[in-house]
Amino acid sequence: MPSKQVSSLPAESAHYTTSNGAPVSEPYAAQRLGLFGPLLLQDFHHLDLLSHFDRERIPERVVHAKGAGAHGTFQVTHDLSDLTDNPLLSNKGKKVKATVRFSTVGGESGSADTARDPRGFAIKLRTEEGNWDWVFNNTPVFFIRDPAKFPHFIHTQKRDPQTHLKDADMFWDYLSQNPESIHQIMILFSDRGTPDGYHRQHGYSGHTFKWFKKDGSFVYTQVHLRAEGGFKTLSNAEAGKLAGENPDYGTESLFESIESGYFPTWNVFVQVMTPAQAEQFRYNVLDLTKVWPHGDFPLRPIGKLVLDENPQNYFAEIEQAAFSPSHLVPYIEPSADPVLQSRLFSYPDTHRHRLGTNYQQLPVNAPIVPVANFQRDGASVFVSQGARPNYQSTIVPLQYHGAPGTLEGAARDLEREIKHETFIGAAFRDLSEITELDFEQPRALWSKVWNDEQREAYVQNVAGHFKGVKSAEVRARQLSVWAAVDQGLSDRIAKAVGAPTVKPLQVKPASEAVKFRANLGVYTSK
Ligand code: HEM
Repeated sequence: MPSKQVSSLPAESAHYTTSNGAPVSEPYAAQRLGLFGPLLLQDFHHLDLLSHFDRERIPERVVHAKGAGAHGTFQVTHDLSDLTDNPLLSNKGKKVKATVRFSTVGGESGSADTARDPRGFAIKLRTEEGNWDWVFNNTPVFFIRDPAKFPHFIHTQKRDPQTHLKDADMFWDYLSQNPESIHQIMILFSDRGTPDGYHRQHGYSGHTFKWFKKDGSFVYTQVHLRAEGGFKTLSNAEAGKLAGENPDYGTESLFESIESGYFPTWNVFVQVMTPAQAEQFRYNVLDLTKVWPHGDFPLRPIGKLVLDENPQNYFAEIEQAAFSPSHLVPYIEPSADPVLQSRLFSYPDTHRHRLGTNYQQLPVNAPIVPVANFQRDGASVFVSQGARPNYQSTIVPLQYHGAPGTLEGAARDLEREIKHETFIGAAFRDLSEITELDFEQPRALWSKVWNDEQREAYVQNVAGHFKGVKSAEVRARQLSVWAAVDQGLSDRIAKAVGAPTVKPLQVKPASEAVKFRANLGVYTSK
């Protein structure tokens, strides 16, 4: 059991009341007719208690349902004024409050923290220009680059409609038909797929964002959070054992760490690419299945994230937290990465379903600055906008800010951005076209980055899951994807699961990747 400090509870003594605040002298007494008769409808205390209990559960997140979180701070530690005029980032030394939620992806809210899965790493930065959410994962790449695949892919990790069981055939059937997933599959089945707790791991934006200057120029960016103390992992066997013995291992170790005064800390970095560099980049800057080599795009330090406060109430402060990649702040814009674009819609949409239309007014989500707009009413309004008119009034007008990255500046910026990203983003007319480019980075992991021990762990971790696949066709198809990475890798997995070896999947050469149809270019670099 976590060593919860009673001293962290509010000092004032609390008196038991009904929900309308009326004192109750005996919490267990129900009013009834006589000593043995039926209960009375007038007993508000009893009805109040039961009817609230009946409504205690809200929908769990459709993905990332199991999680843990804490509060802390983010501080800008370096001068970034050459990159962006965002008021937080261009203010070295500035510190803001943060709330962070870690999660696994596929399992239900009671599932094991040590499951093999990517980990969500969602951060809410409470800035003076509104809340800025970093809805990141612990891997720098993702399974898809066509967002229409997301619900299908997630369904293959959920339960079978008939048996209500998880099914290795569904999972590998999907992956083997969508080989752009292979880079993420290399990472997921390495020991990074089973981090040692929620806080001993790195975080990555994965997506490309755009950071703007006042003059309308921008750079492409990718954010990295690197855990002080490094990325610690569990072996497959350790993770499996913990899943049985202590399924809340990650939740507990995060809570205990903070409670004992060890505050998890991440050094935050950014990779920066100019639009001109993006046009020369070997991969598409909007392709979430690729990383930017650190040698070409070095990690530049920007700040520090520290978690130093456990929530007092998990449900109010963590479960009700609503993160979205579309919660952005001035001078920070999404790129045209189609997966990111799709996420901009999906998160607020699911929040309205999960938490209600006024989810931004819940204390954990409410900005630290006043909100003034024309949104009114709906279920559960907690923050009143007073008597201010609910339309654009000339009598009591709202003031507007105008700068790139804000409403006024947006229209001006849009034309330039669209032209540029039409050029570099042309590949997305063929989102699922697989070329040799898709295998280069996975191959580098296998043959250059990993040592013999890591290669063997990968083969064994895959085999442990892949041996559950019953369909010979699915096995052969996925083995052909691994063979396209490296024939030796595929053969080792085949041997480990007792399947016949197969030849590599045939794909188009890198030179035929759509991005390189440079005649689509309409952008002139500044
Ligand atoms: C959670 C959708 C891809 C990171 C969620 C949720 C949805 C969702 C519906 C539940 C949110 C909630 O109930 O509060 C999607 C879609 C994707 C996608 C449609 C692709 C088309 C990604 C990617 C990342 C990511 C690429 C990371 C780079 C997260 C995280 C959470 C989450 C960290 C948990 C947030 C929390 O702790 O509340 N996603 N997702 N997702 N997603 Fe995604």
